[in-house]
Amino acid sequence: IKTIGVVTSGGDAPGMNAALRAVVRACSYYKLRCKGIRLGYEGLITNNIVELGPRSVSNIINRGGTILKTARCAEFRTEEGRKKAYENIKKNEIDALIVIGGDGSFTGAHNFEKEFGIPTLGVPGTIDNDIFGTDNTIGYDTALNTVINAIDKIRDTATSHNRMFFIEVMGRDAGFIALNSGIASGAQDILIPEKKDEIEELFEAIQRGEKAGKLSNIIVVAEGEELGGVYDLAKFTKMKYPKYDIRVTVLGHIQRGGEPTCADRVLASRLGVAAVEGLMEGRSSVMAGIRSNNVVFTPFDEAIVKQNVINNELIRIADILAR
Ligand code: F6P
Repeated sequence: IKTIGVVTSGGDAPGMNAALRAVVRACSYYKLRCKGIRLGYEGLITNNIVELGPRSVSNIINRGGTILKTARCAEFRTEEGRKKAYENIKKNEIDALIVIGGDGSFTGAHNFEKEFGIPTLGVPGTIDNDIFGTDNTIGYDTALNTVINAIDKIRDTATSHNRMFFIEVMGRDAGFIALNSGIASGAQDILIPEKKDEIEELFEAIQRGEKAGKLSNIIVVAEGEELGGVYDLAKFTKMKYPKYDIRVTVLGHIQRGGEPTCADRVLASRLGVAAVEGLMEGRSSVMAGIRSNNVVFTPFDEAIVKQNVINNELIRIADILAR
């Protein structure tokens, strides 16, 4: 391998820049050329590719988003799109590819490698923490901290007005952000898709809070929760308990932005270097991750298909502490 291409793809996540910096600097350390593909896979298809050196990634370790820009690229899901991408890979003399993104991006990378034999290696970058093969994904810790800072502020109003707040957090189909931020912000109830809650369980949690003398409530709801969404939940609760003063807050994309935390910067730095070293050792079609503080490589097949499981102990703790 002489030249590595690097791309950030899918939804941005805080720490993607730190991962990019680590890839570029590791390439320089090992005397490899590094080329950055702009705007996700779209840049491969349109030949939007730039040479990157160690100084191209100065002052970005602390910045959210991705300086390469990113996209969810529909054309790369087609064979024709991937063929164009391959032509540009050849034109740019790229021998191997590092993809910083989520499972959708890894699926694209995996297909691309199977069709054209370009070694690819994934680095998990998503706030959702829904990728198998790593304890944490890059961006997850930052998103959690953003969420608890926001909920702490909302709590001030909830307490001052004796209100109940339904707060929707991101996570796509996964409840990791909701469960962990819910515990860390002292939520009265946490609704996540993995738990398959019934509305009665929510009502029981509210009743328990009332019996325990609570005058305000924070209910954290994962966006992937299947009871009908945060507005319906608030509506049903108001119908059941008209006396409650209820508000809804959807935290939205503030969860994706901002400076990465120390944990995310270190994780991104480790995985970026591991990705370059992995390719040099001849690994491909795998994702670099960290489990129990060790770098591990998981085949794309598994990383894409398998699910991270919710820790039942956390569900139990959330329940104990809400009483
Ligand atoms: O995967 C990250 C994520 O922020 C999810 O939590 C959310 O469901 C989705 O992306 C939102 O995507 P978009 O920014 O394309 O609306």
